Amino acid sequence: MPADTPAVAFDPALGLAVLHTPNSTYAVRIGADGSPRHLHWGPALDAASLTDPRSPADSSFEDEAAADELAPQTGARFGPAGLRVRFADGTVGAQWHFDGHRIDDGELRLRLVDRRYPLAADLCYRVRPGSDVIERWTELTHTGETGHIVIDRLDSASWTAPPLSDYRLSHLVGGWFSEFQLQRDRLPVAETVLTSRRGITGHHASPWLALDDGTATEEHGEVWSTALAWSGSWRITVHRNPVGRATWTGGFGHEGLSWNLRPGETLQTPVFAGLYTPDGFGGASRAWHAHVRSQVLPEPDRDQPVLYNSWEATGFDVDTAGQLRLAELAARLGVELFVLDDGWFGARTDDRAGLGDWTPRPAAFPEGLRPLADGVHRLGMAFGLWVEPEMVNADSDLFRAHPDWAVHTPTRDATELRNQLVLNLARPEVEAWVHRTLDRLVAENDVDWLKWDANRPFTEAGWPGHPDPDRLWIDHTRAVHRIMDRLRTDHPGLRIEACAGGGGRVDLAILARTDQAWTSDNTDPVDRISIQHGFSQLFPAQAMAAWVTDSPNGITGRTTPLRFRFHVAMAGALGLGGDLTHWTPEELTEAAELVARYKEIRPLVQHGEQHRLTGAGGTTAVHYAAADGTEHALLAWRPATRFGHQPAPLRLPALDGQARYRDLDTGEEYGGALLRHRGIELRLPVGDHASRLIRLRRLG
Ligand code: DGJ
Repeated sequence: MPADTPAVAFDPALGLAVLHTPNSTYAVRIGADGSPRHLHWGPALDAASLTDPRSPADSSFEDEAAADELAPQTGARFGPAGLRVRFADGTVGAQWHFDGHRIDDGELRLRLVDRRYPLAADLCYRVRPGSDVIERWTELTHTGETGHIVIDRLDSASWTAPPLSDYRLSHLVGGWFSEFQLQRDRLPVAETVLTSRRGITGHHASPWLALDDGTATEEHGEVWSTALAWSGSWRITVHRNPVGRATWTGGFGHEGLSWNLRPGETLQTPVFAGLYTPDGFGGASRAWHAHVRSQVLPEPDRDQPVLYNSWEATGFDVDTAGQLRLAELAARLGVELFVLDDGWFGARTDDRAGLGDWTPRPAAFPEGLRPLADGVHRLGMAFGLWVEPEMVNADSDLFRAHPDWAVHTPTRDATELRNQLVLNLARPEVEAWVHRTLDRLVAENDVDWLKWDANRPFTEAGWPGHPDPDRLWIDHTRAVHRIMDRLRTDHPGLRIEACAGGGGRVDLAILARTDQAWTSDNTDPVDRISIQHGFSQLFPAQAMAAWVTDSPNGITGRTTPLRFRFHVAMAGALGLGGDLTHWTPEELTEAAELVARYKEIRPLVQHGEQHRLTGAGGTTAVHYAAADGTEHALLAWRPATRFGHQPAPLRLPALDGQARYRDLDTGEEYGGALLRHRGIELRLPVGDHASRLIRLRRLG
């Protein structure tokens, strides 16, 4: 591609739009029916190779016309529609007339107007310098003066993979305690729906997917992947048709919801971002990590602190003296942030009461939170506080005063989950109350960090008295985002950790206003390896909160060595969550050493490039490399020993074959070519739950 090729171009004569990223090209052409059609997404091509004189919509066969960029619900289209509308006279679907384009600073807008009804859509595309990620979204406007237009579906974008010999779908599945399990299956000739109907992103599915032809590996092969930036309900439908085309359309909301678009109103979707890479799943993840750092995280250059969180140690049994005792022990280990978790407020001595009453529980904190916050600060640590501001227990002063604030349907029994209900933050007065409450908590208690939890999905979601009650599914999420944004603006330096009963709400939109996400309530290091593997497909290690907790693990019952627990947690944003008052002096000494060691490799883990490695005999590893290739840290884990054998050497393909490297702990020197092609001896300790940290420095 010539250096002066603009990133975004539109040829009005051909109706051809082309977006160039450093390593890919994306092209769209307006069809004869006015609907933008997909032409190319893949390796860089010049515009001349895309100038077929036929309209991409020309074909008597539905399956042969080029796929829509956002399929309207009209014409010979029988796959999933990205836009479903109903007009007052009962007419369904849009028929477009192309009304022009606009290009502005890497952003392209294709303007479509309905041929007969007052409806306009902007299909929007954005590319950023140095990135292969293409961001897409849609804005739908009621251009008339009267009546509503019912929107039954408005997707952000529809994506199309090129014809491939086969299709394989990678996506993430799970549940509470088992989030982010990577699933890689042949894509059936069918419509495959990935969705959350829960009002949160969900533990059971993530709005990320990757498609390849079934042959891509970590290091090689073409991969097309997309991620939706939304923290509420969502749906992505992947359609592989019988003649070998794979398309997918996705956006906010799930089936059955509608939005009455008012005259003059514009409904804007979240961004659905897409990435093509020829460098395998590892290359795709590294490109996503770079995107999350440069375009998503609010403060990517700040180190994530080593934190201590009291939840697993004390549960609801919290008070000033007990928390200060833990804080003193944590400070001695090198912890930089102390987080007081659930149980500090209202009548909260268990999960049956108190949610919504955000004042310190008098029996536990008779003088409020200040003595603890000040004590933590005096110990040289930042002070963090757990909140769950979207929720309410029926047994709370808040619910007694405002029962109508909860999401509910008066003629339906309200399902309580974890004994709690969801507050309807779509109501402006509830949003204002949540913001005011958190703003005051942060200011009055010198809070440096909020852990923002959300422990249940929506059920019986109604909004009595509101003419358009389904709006709550979208407006609640928007309110959460807005409150987080306001808090960050008004309290510079405040950091927020995203949490939803573990990793139930991790997505590109929540990470745009939080610093890290609590990955899972499962802190068993063996289980964590696969959870972290899945998380890393899209998100960088700096956003992945990982704690070292007690052994045996409180839920799995598995006993693991402290070093193994550390080595697994050191692959992300390290935290501690065990009951330090029960750790032996030897364990506390070892923990302090490992925290210090983590701080040495933190720049690599949190700001370097990540390479996932698979060795022999169940051994896996993650290799973090400095962007300039000088420093390297490798964390290798073998959960179970096999026959007492040492694993075969582990190849390090990210190293420079021309360079030499020194192991900083043993002093041994190696040629890069040897480490790339033969591998490094891991020399793991004998037994189960063996692990090792290897640090390498390039010489010269
Ligand atoms: C769920 C979170 O994931 C835990 O870390 C903890 O904060 C509990 N909620 C507290 O109720």
